[in-house]
Amino acid sequence: MINYSSIREKLKVENHTGDTEGLAFLTHYLHNHENGVAESYQQKATEYFELRAKESGIDIAADSGLQAMLPIKWDIPFPSPKDPEFTFIDLFAGIGGFRIPLQELGGKCVFSSEFNQHAQRAYELNFGEVPFGDITKLDINIVPKHNILCAGFPCQPFSISGKMKGFEDTRGTLIYHVFEIIEKRKPEVVLLENVKHLVYHDKKRTLATIVQHLEDLGYKVSKKVLNASDFGVPQNRERIIIIGHREKVFDFSKIKKQAKPVLKDFLDTKNDFEYLDEPYTILKDQKRQVSGLIFAGYRNKTIRKAGVRPGTEHLSRVHKQPNRIYSTEGVHPALPSQESSGRFWIWHEKKVRKLTIEECYRIMGFPKNFKMIYNRGELYKQIGNSVAIPMINAVAEQIKKQLLNTKSTPNETIRVA
Ligand SMILES: C[S@@+](CC[C@H](N)C(=O)[O-])C[C@H]1O[C@@H](n2cnc3c(N)ncnc32)[C@H](O)[C@@H]1O
Repeated sequence: MINYSSIREKLKVENHTGDTEGLAFLTHYLHNHENGVAESYQQKATEYFELRAKESGIDIAADSGLQAMLPIKWDIPFPSPKDPEFTFIDLFAGIGGFRIPLQELGGKCVFSSEFNQHAQRAYELNFGEVPFGDITKLDINIVPKHNILCAGFPCQPFSISGKMKGFEDTRGTLIYHVFEIIEKRKPEVVLLENVKHLVYHDKKRTLATIVQHLEDLGYKVSKKVLNASDFGVPQNRERIIIIGHREKVFDFSKIKKQAKPVLKDFLDTKNDFEYLDEPYTILKDQKRQVSGLIFAGYRNKTIRKAGVRPGTEHLSRVHKQPNRIYSTEGVHPALPSQESSGRFWIWHEKKVRKLTIEECYRIMGFPKNFKMIYNRGELYKQIGNSVAIPMINAVAEQIKKQLLNTKSTPNETIRVA
């Protein structure tokens, strides 16, 4: 049996930059060759394969084309489940923060889309699949039927026209393309995720528009802001989760929460740590906030002066976010998507040091065997953009219990309509 990395090597894909679409067709085909979905990927997958095989001078194509590669051995950390119980698609897939927990729960991913090439590479390393690119240029006919549509869509703000005449109102925005896919494929469940700020954006009208359009598309919608720190990771990361189902209303109160853990239990013990070598102040009186954060001190940089009352100079809100230092006896603030935006300094064992990139992935709940790419800036960006895996796991577990029609077998649902 041939394994995925040797196919990639044989096709000399590494030297072939730019054409991720061909590889997206090929990998989607290989992942779905045992089900009806492969039909919609086959032609372009074959064309790409033949082209690459010719350019790479290999004879595998001359023998029997694509079929020579099947069945394939997936030498990747997160293969699809063998006997899937449901199917899903992964839009704005990033590095797979939805895919890992949904696969764990028995889901088979039948389509993914993500246009950042570094994220595509991380996704391929971990799942053996290259996501399709820009969703705004996607031919939605290739998106197969599926049970759950997942989209951690970018928080691109949009203003409503005020007419609320259906989802066309949102044309020109990324969520519009999600609505288009929903209209065409009518998934059983829609699972959307975004930053907490979406709740308040444009005087709450943006969220109301999204909910309204989902309702117009035939879904009963429920939504709630959840915090990653309630799901076993020491990070105060609040995200809005929006869930739609065609018949039932999702009950958020059934989601199992856990006690907030503390950051110090998630840290590396041995490493070449980066200690802070500039002046900083550590407070004597460090109070735990309701969120679980403990403001320990600050880098002696910019302090807000205007409007600061006497005696409040040491409050965390006076100090610019990147300059704040938090104690590892509490939780960490939400990881940002840019290393330069700070927020990585921790007060641990009486020293101030920076969280390592491995620690960042750990406090998002990424498993140890998750493969990271070799670009430090991108690694920070990817993890800061992602989702806390245990939180998505807890949500998806309840979606499966409360909403999915378990009688439908995946092979029925994944036939292209
Ligand atoms: C908030 S992040 C979602 C991350 C993802 N949930 C994860 O677990 O890593 C949004 C992602 O959408 C991608 N994106 C933005 N615009 C896109 C577009 N037009 N087509 C495809 N992907 C896009 C970004 O590159 C980014 O990775």
